[in-house]
Amino acid sequence: MRQNLVAGNWKMNNNAEQTADLIGDLKSSMEGFEPNCRVMIAPTFVNLAAAAPNTEGTIVEVAAQNMHQAEKGAYTGEISVDMLKSVGIQTVILGHSERRTYFKEDDALLKAKVTTALANGMEVIFCFGELLAERKAGNHFTVVESQLKNVLFDLFSDQWKQIVLAYEPVWAIGTGETASPEQAQEMHSFIRGLVNTKYSETVANELTILYGGSVKPDNAKEIFSKEDVDGGLIGGASLKVADFTAIIQAC
Ligand code: 13P
Repeated sequence: MRQNLVAGNWKMNNNAEQTADLIGDLKSSMEGFEPNCRVMIAPTFVNLAAAAPNTEGTIVEVAAQNMHQAEKGAYTGEISVDMLKSVGIQTVILGHSERRTYFKEDDALLKAKVTTALANGMEVIFCFGELLAERKAGNHFTVVESQLKNVLFDLFSDQWKQIVLAYEPVWAIGTGETASPEQAQEMHSFIRGLVNTKYSETVANELTILYGGSVKPDNAKEIFSKEDVDGGLIGGASLKVADFTAIIQAC
């Protein structure tokens, strides 16, 4: 059975106090309702060590936004998988378009990061998606296919249990412009089909595929209602408890 998931990517927002406050508000607003999905937040690195115990015993899970591909060593300023695990983090977001664009993370580097994360028992939320120019040129399926093949298609079937996919068309991130529910469904069904062909129907059917890009309370329900959309990776709206809770309720 594949699981729905709504995850909030907080990006470079919220200091320690704001993180504690937002988690406190989220816990209160979640009291008394059992969502139809896993719920996750991804605060910035320095706040993970406090966020993990602060959410213990609740349904809120905590993820990291990134990690380094090496297990350890002379990489000033970087964070290793063991460091994440040592503060109770079991999930990491990799391949976000902001990492690809601003920090030049390419398929080869992402493959190394995914390999290290999986070898250390982490769950990976792997992000990918086409640029506006690529969609306009009609290349979005080809782009997405190569992003997936180059990074994930050497994995063993069993390793897919540790993978969540997040389709985030770059033109929809932080722009207020969302893919239509039909565009999301079309791409998600294409992605599931690729995994089915390369692996098996079981692997494809059990795979959670999130949509990300300007998901808000007023469009979440329609997007999540699509057959192959199993929840969302939420940026801006995850920073406001009322909006994030409404999106969780829409799942
Ligand atoms: P927005 O929801 O702000 O468009 O961001 C989406 C995103 O990048 C989530 O990772």
